[in-house]
Amino acid sequence: MSNNEQEANSAFVIGWPIEHSRSPLLHGYWLKYLKIPGTYEAVGISPEKIETFIRLLPKSGFAGGNVTVPHKEAVFRLVDHRDEIAEVLGAVNTLWLKDGKVHGTNTDGYGFCANLDSFAPKWRQGKTVVVLGAGGASRAIIYALGKAGYSKIHIINRTLAKAEAIAEEFSPHLESDLLPHSWEDAPDLLAKADLLVNTTSIGMGDSGDFPLDFSNLKEQAIVTDIVYTPLLTPFLKLAKSKNYKTVDGLGMLLHQAAPGFEKWFGTRPNITPALRQYILKDLTKKVLHK
Ligand code: ATR
Repeated sequence: MSNNEQEANSAFVIGWPIEHSRSPLLHGYWLKYLKIPGTYEAVGISPEKIETFIRLLPKSGFAGGNVTVPHKEAVFRLVDHRDEIAEVLGAVNTLWLKDGKVHGTNTDGYGFCANLDSFAPKWRQGKTVVVLGAGGASRAIIYALGKAGYSKIHIINRTLAKAEAIAEEFSPHLESDLLPHSWEDAPDLLAKADLLVNTTSIGMGDSGDFPLDFSNLKEQAIVTDIVYTPLLTPFLKLAKSKNYKTVDGLGMLLHQAAPGFEKWFGTRPNITPALRQYILKDLTKKVLHK
């Protein structure tokens, strides 16, 4: 990063709508804690305006920023440079400026892995994973799991064609076997899983039951959800009630933010229990006041 860009000390998150993003709270906490005189702001950009926003970015004074729904794919197409992960995923969530050019990467997979490293480090010893869901969020996770050495990645999805499409698309980039399934295969697959990941939106924002029987899952299996509203999702609640080691999705949000902060503000921030509590307090407040 050049001195010029470091002086800018100003970053953003763009999305549409953007009001629900926790990124300003998170980066604001780090800026304050690390006493960095920078700013991080939420900017609502409609789909019609995204191209102009990216084109004008080099002259905007921003050091970079985050990209959230629905712009991750559009921004992927608009940046000047993408790294290998962004290239494979076809989606960008972190931008930075270098020599007047817009660079993009995707830190979702990193955030997912770093969260597990922090709360269930043994996850790296596993070989077989079952991923529930084949939406936008599961792509980064499936790729990261392949890179982390999982040799069998079973993808279960209601719409089988979407699981098949991900398997076909990612197979050339990974050494793992990517195996698409429908939900009826779940009981058999759970018996083989070292790690079980929920990326579906089932139960998000409410407390409905999760339609899965955990009775076949190995005792030592690790269970994780990428949804963090509520923190204890119906999926995690079920896993906890059966005494599985569980990891909630909040850490993924916190960890995926760190590489961007370092690029824009020059310091790698820590993910601490105090930060977690701070964000959690806001999440609980939002749920209560809904
Ligand atoms: P995201 O980008 O957050 O992953 P998404 O692309 O809408 O969101 O994907 C949501 C995932 O949850 C999908 O895998 C979806 O399955 P389909 O591809 O069949 O739509 C899954 N999902 C949502 N509600 C579901 C339900 N009631 N039963 C089973 N799967 C569900």
